Amino acid sequence: MSRIPQSFIDDLVARADIVEVIGSRVPLKKKGREYAACCPFHHEKSPSFFVSPDKQFYHCFGCGAHGTVLGFLMAFERLDFVEAVETLAGQLGLTVPREGGETPQAHPHAPLLAILEDCARFYQAELKRTPRAIDYLKRRGVSGETAATFGLGYAPPGFDTLERALRLDRQGIDRLKQAGMLSEGEHGRLYDRFRERVMFPIRDRRGRVIAFGGRVLGDEKPKYLNSPETPLFHKGHELYGLFEARKALGRPDRLLVVEGYMDVVMLAQHGLREAIATLGTAVTREQVDLMFRHTAQVVFCFDGDEAGRRAAWRALEATLPQLRDGLDARFLFLPEGEDPDSLVRQEGAEAFRARIGHEALGFDAFLLEELARQAEDDGTPAARARLKTLALPLIQGMPAGVLKDLVLDKLAARVGVSIDRLLPSKERLAPRPQAHERPVRPAEPGRATALRKAIVLLLHYPELAARRAPDPAWAQSPVPGLPLLALLIDHLRSRPTPMGVTLEHFRASPHARVLEAISRLPPPRESEDIEVRERMWLDMLEHIAATHNRARLRQLTERPFAELQPLERQELLRLTTLQSSRE
Ligand code: GTP
Ligand code: MN
Repeated sequence: MSRIPQSFIDDLVARADIVEVIGSRVPLKKKGREYAACCPFHHEKSPSFFVSPDKQFYHCFGCGAHGTVLGFLMAFERLDFVEAVETLAGQLGLTVPREGGETPQAHPHAPLLAILEDCARFYQAELKRTPRAIDYLKRRGVSGETAATFGLGYAPPGFDTLERALRLDRQGIDRLKQAGMLSEGEHGRLYDRFRERVMFPIRDRRGRVIAFGGRVLGDEKPKYLNSPETPLFHKGHELYGLFEARKALGRPDRLLVVEGYMDVVMLAQHGLREAIATLGTAVTREQVDLMFRHTAQVVFCFDGDEAGRRAAWRALEATLPQLRDGLDARFLFLPEGEDPDSLVRQEGAEAFRARIGHEALGFDAFLLEELARQAEDDGTPAARARLKTLALPLIQGMPAGVLKDLVLDKLAARVGVSIDRLLPSKERLAPRPQAHERPVRPAEPGRATALRKAIVLLLHYPELAARRAPDPAWAQSPVPGLPLLALLIDHLRSRPTPMGVTLEHFRASPHARVLEAISRLPPPRESEDIEVRERMWLDMLEHIAATHNRARLRQLTERPFAELQPLERQELLRLTTLQSSRE
């Protein structure tokens, strides 16, 4: 592959507006000269993520994430650099020019990708010359254009077709096997995995073929066959049709998640280009994560029958922990006996869109409806208590935010108690102490005063944990108490629990006694004012960070340089630079 000229990248970044690019993915609010949001890279209640149009830079004061517009795209959509450049260029309507010359960085599995590409091309050519397969697709209403868009093909009969068609040597056959295209029979005999099937190439985000699904033309079993797990293909991490949807729509306003390959293909043919499918498995968290990196709204579409409801429930469970403010999930159940393919062919795209608009349930409605069924809610106090018990842990798994509070409100209204009555019961039971964990000595009085103060403050105001990520090095710090502080910050960042709950959580930990002692100290009086408190906290951390750096520097310089490991040398270098830049 050829190189992208640096001048193009410079120009691209200069032309892009970071506020627009981030704003189309994360809802931003203007705050003075900057824009703020709850950070998309860690869970938080109040916005500490800032985008500066002046600096064309983003920065999170909570977790320290920061960078440029390309850096944001790489982190948020999990793209590599070239993909981020392509995405940004696409958003600005520019085509990425290429310079001649090979790029040194090749994909680690380039040979497998190449051979799958060859297979896909071969299958496509076979489709064109196999009337039986063409007839099948015609009967199902697939147009030639759609077949081309999705790269549909046909795997002919025969057990060594690929080997012969692609003229493979031993190494080629080995790669074919690694790519999941061969099955192994008795005595290790290899043969073509896909035979006499319509072939659906599964592509990664960049459109490279990484696997296939194949459907029989008749009623034989199994109806569908997928590639096995390979170095390129992890079923639970991929979404069929995502590449095609993004190619057609850029960043889609929503993604419509269906169950089958044919559903995706036929919806797209009718103009619903946002359809994607999981690959014949329950929706995974990784897949939901991937969806929300490419859109803010996901509509799950399932059969209306019992199995469909069960699958939808699993999708909901995978979705809730990722539903930040600004995201939405809905559930559409289809009339029994229909699937998206059959419906869109019967009633057309407009009616199907209308269904999504009118019939899709909000995730919260689906959640409460389904739980009410499970709890056999007949309005009795016992049933309501059951409902509450079932619902609370699920809702509590949501990231903190307005959306979560809304759902809690709804639950409270439903079970007929106030939110305050609902919440105390969330405190979970303490883990049993583990015999092998020995308690350590309580903190020595008088020492580590700054650390102790910081821990007190954090225990009382756990939401402070989100304000700044701990330095990973703190976990091994020679400064007494700092490893504990780091542990606490890490724990509280995602779940700022009240002090009692936190103490319970660490009950079995070696730090329990120290924590317990510290928790009895009163918090500093100035800390009642939220702004003063936050300022105080950040100052303390600044001070503690400096103490750690000094202590660590001393520790490293005390040892002979020759003895230091490469990483320690790097650390030493960094610390020395820090020290001298301060002076
Ligand atoms: P047709 O419309 O009959 O082509 O199938 P469909 O796309 O409506 O599929 P169906 O609703 O029967 O199944 C949904 C999805 O489950 C399919 O797209 C496949 O991914 C998967 N699936 C269905 N049958 C099988 C099977 O026999 N084996 C495997 N591995 N997956 C299957
Ligand atoms: Mn179908």
